[in-house]
Amino acid sequence: STMTRVNVTVDGVLCSDDVEPRMLLVHYLREVVGKVGTVVGCDTSNCGACTVHVAGKAMRSCVVPVKAVAGDAVRTIEGLGGGHPVQQAWLEEQVPQCGYCQTGQIMQAVALLEATPRPTAGQIREGMNGVLCRCGTYPRIEAAVRRAADALAAKAEG
Ligand code: FES
Repeated sequence: STMTRVNVTVDGVLCSDDVEPRMLLVHYLREVVGKVGTVVGCDTSNCGACTVHVAGKAMRSCVVPVKAVAGDAVRTIEGLGGGHPVQQAWLEEQVPQCGYCQTGQIMQAVALLEATPRPTAGQIREGMNGVLCRCGTYPRIEAAVRRAADALAAKAEG
């Protein structure tokens, strides 16, 4: 089949690859770029495990063809670098149980806090709504988002 060339910036690195025209972003990230921190949960846009950022917005990478984000900047969990305040808060609140959905949870939380640095409890619930966790870690997720918001605010104040 005909391959198509895409240029995408992934975690700050410009990637230029020939891909199947219908290749999904999640498969591109995992199989072509090697960003295996992004996972597939449901493959049908229902769970949010595959969430990454495209041009700063949280997006489900299992439903977006990589072609559709050509020219955009994509950020994955690897792009957070491990020491991001949201990742730190996740560790401090011991959020993960099985851990599978947590990439998506963290990417959703980072996007939420970038848009709404001081979210209310309601805004956290609304902002994290629809990123599913079968282990039911939701209370710890909320606590971690609150903790991360405090940490980011403290950092911003110096
Ligand atoms: Fe993409 Fe579930 S794997 S929403």
